Amino acid sequence: MAPITETPEWKMLLAHRDEIEPLTLSDHFNADAGRFETLSFEVDGLVLDLSKNRLNAKTVELLVALADAAGLEARRDSLFAGDNINETEARQALHPALRDRSELTGGGVSANAAQEAARQKAFVDAVRDGQESGATSQKFTDVLSIGIGGSHLGPMMVARALRHGDQADPAVHFVANMDGIDISETLGKLDPATTMVVVISKTFTTAETVKNAETARDWITKNLGADGVASHFVGVSADIGAVERFGIPAARTFPIWDWVGGRYSLWSAVGLSAALPLGWTAFDEMNNGAHAMDQHFTQQPSSRNLPVLLGLADLWNVSFLGYDARAVLPYDHRLTDLPAYLQQLEMESNGKGVDLDGRPVPASSPVVFGGPGTITQHSFHQMLHQGPQPVPAEFIGIARTGHDLPDRQDALIANMLAQAEALAFGADGNGDPHRACPGNRPSTTILMDGLTPDRLGKLVSLYEHKVFVQGVVWGINSFDQFGVELGKRLAARLTGDMTAAEISQNYDASTVGLLRRYRAWRDKE
Ligand code: F6P
Repeated sequence: MAPITETPEWKMLLAHRDEIEPLTLSDHFNADAGRFETLSFEVDGLVLDLSKNRLNAKTVELLVALADAAGLEARRDSLFAGDNINETEARQALHPALRDRSELTGGGVSANAAQEAARQKAFVDAVRDGQESGATSQKFTDVLSIGIGGSHLGPMMVARALRHGDQADPAVHFVANMDGIDISETLGKLDPATTMVVVISKTFTTAETVKNAETARDWITKNLGADGVASHFVGVSADIGAVERFGIPAARTFPIWDWVGGRYSLWSAVGLSAALPLGWTAFDEMNNGAHAMDQHFTQQPSSRNLPVLLGLADLWNVSFLGYDARAVLPYDHRLTDLPAYLQQLEMESNGKGVDLDGRPVPASSPVVFGGPGTITQHSFHQMLHQGPQPVPAEFIGIARTGHDLPDRQDALIANMLAQAEALAFGADGNGDPHRACPGNRPSTTILMDGLTPDRLGKLVSLYEHKVFVQGVVWGINSFDQFGVELGKRLAARLTGDMTAAEISQNYDASTVGLLRRYRAWRDKE
């Protein structure tokens, strides 16, 4: 296939960009009173408003044509049919099958997933009602979830979004970092007799997870004896043998499959550390919500398809307007972990330098960063409003709240709408250049009626498919992550030289200098 940049559709978009680039967002709104109606899209309690982006209906039409030229429909069908769409690793990417109870994807994959889901449900129910207990027969009051990346960010984001972890029964605690402070502070708060440790690692070789799991195992063994490991640990992995060698019995092991990528694995047993505190009903509702979005994605024409439109609008900003970052700003404290979750989903999926044929890509994932509004307003929004390099923003607001202080909710959403307005239209500062805000800064708003499990499932599925759409247009394999490996290899090489009598390997001068200084300070009495 010819590079996407050489297609007539790409060239038409470039010409169109040149035509509309001089128009400001104020010009767009002044020219079209129906702009919100034309450029906002709704499905089941979720509104996607693209109208504050620097585009118009013609842009959307041309972007949809570009997606067609990139073969989006065929690629999407391949994804759902279970083809080896992860070509560089010759694997399927069948995460939608995990939330599909109707065998749509064929090949027994959904049946297999449904069978495992039934096992997970039984386990979650048994832990929550105290039938499944630990070495001292006491009910588990706490779950310690150990994992990193896709084995951490998804369940953590969901558990915290749908229920404040520490009020849940069992309460859940997440540990990911190699830094020993993470695990030691967390263990310090827990009672080994009533703590279940869930170790989540697709490979079961990830250094951070293995180290943290070993520390937790020592803690359980020291307090409850070696037998405590079998009754207090749960393993989630694609490598069942490694879990067994670690000391976790088969009855407490839940498989994940090769055909689920780490950052898409929330829907598998990786989600256990969210399902345990939330309960199975909520977890299942979230799956169903995601499945409904899958159906929307597979069935709706691109011109009304939310993941397609969200992906294409962001691609327009990156590839045609040259914005290479995006701020994700959930105006709901429950979604505090969403930016970090999306960072992995988007930047690990599409942060690639070459396309499927090994040619340089025209663009790839923007820098994704963010945090919860209104907190972010008092840190980095200054730069969003006046910095010389505009950064598109993505606002996520929720109408119904998780608390009973309605005046706060109104204030919160007023702030969100005000930020989008200020970015779009700015202010002249009464002639004072220091006070002037230039405006014309694009933003997208996703407004949902509530943060129910169903809506959160839809939101996550929306983003998963959005990333896929962009990958297809840029020609990227969104399902591998080879770039992460080099750092892991070099860290393994350096580990020996942390303690060796003489630094043995050939490093660059900076690495040697820092290593020497580190060792000297570390060993100072
Ligand atoms: O290092 C990147 C990565 O491979 C992610 O893609 C993955 O989600 C994470 O590490 C954790 O991997 P695992 O589940 O195998 O421990």
